[in-house]
Amino acid sequence: MKVAIYPGSFDPVTNGHLDVIKRAQKFFDKVIVAVIANPEKDSYFSLEDRMSMLKECLKDMPKIEVDAFNGLLVDFAKKMGVSAIIRGLRAVSDFDYEFQMAITNRKMKPDIETVFFMTDYKYSYLSSSFVKQIAHLGGDVKEFVPPVVVRKLKEK
Ligand code: PNS
Repeated sequence: MKVAIYPGSFDPVTNGHLDVIKRAQKFFDKVIVAVIANPEKDSYFSLEDRMSMLKECLKDMPKIEVDAFNGLLVDFAKKMGVSAIIRGLRAVSDFDYEFQMAITNRKMKPDIETVFFMTDYKYSYLSSSFVKQIAHLGGDVKEFVPPVVVRKLKEK
């Protein structure tokens, strides 16, 4: 069974993340969407909220599981029997950080491969940070995030 992990802060999940998940699930038997419990920068949404929004969006995709992790990604990946780490690439500007992360993870666990999926060009400008900023300043984000996230942002 080929299992992959798609890690991130998902603070909150965007249509860009969902696009990557849809593409990736075609190549694996199971994809674990792994939400980091304590990201480096404080998260806007709680872990519970970030996970519940993902679960709501992915409820009709049987190959996808949503889980949380703390500590090193590669340790969690190993524990879950994962052979690949999935990351999305939006633009060239993502490359440097993603390259560093992939090489560092490979140094720690050489048998886990990082696989990149290019998001649809529609999402190449999209980030969770901009979504939060737009929502905070009263802008409309329904083009960028799924309905459950629009609702949660309004509640906040
Ligand atoms: O959505 P993000 O913020 O780009 O996700 C970054 C994430 C969570 C994948 C990354 O920060 C991570 O893997 N953190 C766990 C700690 C770790 O393993 N660090 C070494 C990576 S080189």
